[in-house]
Amino acid sequence: MDTGLENVVAAETVLSDVDGQNGRLVIRGWPVEMLAASMAFEDGAHLLWQGMFDTLPDVRALGARIGAARADVFAHVAEIPDGLDVISFLRVGWAMLPDDESLDAAIRLSAAGAVFTAAAIRRARGEAPIAPDPDLSHAADFLRMLTGRVPDQAEARALDAYLVTVCDHGLNASTFAARVVASTRAGLVSAAVAGLSALKGPLHGGAPGPVLDMIDDIGAPENAEAWIDGALGRGERLMGFGHRVYRVRDPRADALKAAVARLPGTSGRIRFAEHIERAVLGRLAKKYPQRKLETNVEFYTALLLEALGLARDAFTPVFACGRVLGWTAHAREQIGEGRLVRPRSVYRGPVPVPA
Ligand code: SDX
Repeated sequence: MDTGLENVVAAETVLSDVDGQNGRLVIRGWPVEMLAASMAFEDGAHLLWQGMFDTLPDVRALGARIGAARADVFAHVAEIPDGLDVISFLRVGWAMLPDDESLDAAIRLSAAGAVFTAAAIRRARGEAPIAPDPDLSHAADFLRMLTGRVPDQAEARALDAYLVTVCDHGLNASTFAARVVASTRAGLVSAAVAGLSALKGPLHGGAPGPVLDMIDDIGAPENAEAWIDGALGRGERLMGFGHRVYRVRDPRADALKAAVARLPGTSGRIRFAEHIERAVLGRLAKKYPQRKLETNVEFYTALLLEALGLARDAFTPVFACGRVLGWTAHAREQIGEGRLVRPRSVYRGPVPVPA
């Protein structure tokens, strides 16, 4: 048995390749650094969905359909009950969408991710939701629905860089969950809700918020070593570090750090984070000399989403707003395989006493 399935190849995919030994991530043939530096969310959707649906419009037309879908799903916001945290709001909202295997379902899920996350954040602040502007790009409208103002180009570019950087990452826990659900022919909405539920966990996508908690707790460079020793001494895991696959630095860390650096007023925060990062890496190397624990995607995600003015309980839902592109693409790939995912188990329980 292989707990964690770390040595099990459960699918062949054309979507992404995670090279853990060399710290490389390729998405549909593109190094992730190139996606982060040049692609918008709509480009990422088009890139991942190619060949996954009978028809796929060009990027411009796809962007227009995502914009129109943002306007369509907005009506669901009023139907979502109060008192939900952001990720639960998104999960309930997605569950209201028509659950089929069509391109429209994938478009609605992608559009609704931004609409519901923005509305949830505003509702938590006691503010009314802002209706989408279908004519804006997805990232620009996401930020506008959050803040009420059209973002400047650097802000929209930074959110685009984040959403495409995290859009797909091999057979991570949430994508595998999405593939399992898709393999039963339950539909893309069910697959995305399963993915979101897996992503919520702090060992997977729930880490960026706690990264910021750590940075704020440390407070000043001179406190870093003592704080880290205390956390490790209590057997705590340091969020933003370590990875099941990467044995070297996660290539997305520097792609996202570059995106943060392009935003005004972030240099001091980056310098402080780099100091903490160096201290953590040194302590982890000492404590686990046999286990390469490096910076993963979440560490600089925290700085980027903070710089965009997002509250930390929105970090994981925003992660899902990018990863939904991968979940829907993998779900369609699994459906194309046509096999129900059903591994075996070894029974270790009591056996019936012979009569
Ligand atoms: C993501 O799979 C993906 O692709 C995921 C992802 C994606 O894009 O989908 O890349 C996104 O999930 C990034 C990871 C976000 N999570 C965190 O940053 C949480 C902190 N990291 C860890 O919990 C951990 O590193 C995991 C869960 C990410 C990976 O854990 P593994 O591969 O199961 O490693 P392990 O638990 O076997 O750890 C080996 C040892 C353990 O010590 P012992 O229990 O054997 O004494 O290293 C320790 C761990 O306790 N360890 C850490 C640590 N990570 C591992 N100790 C302190 N801090 C850490 N961050």
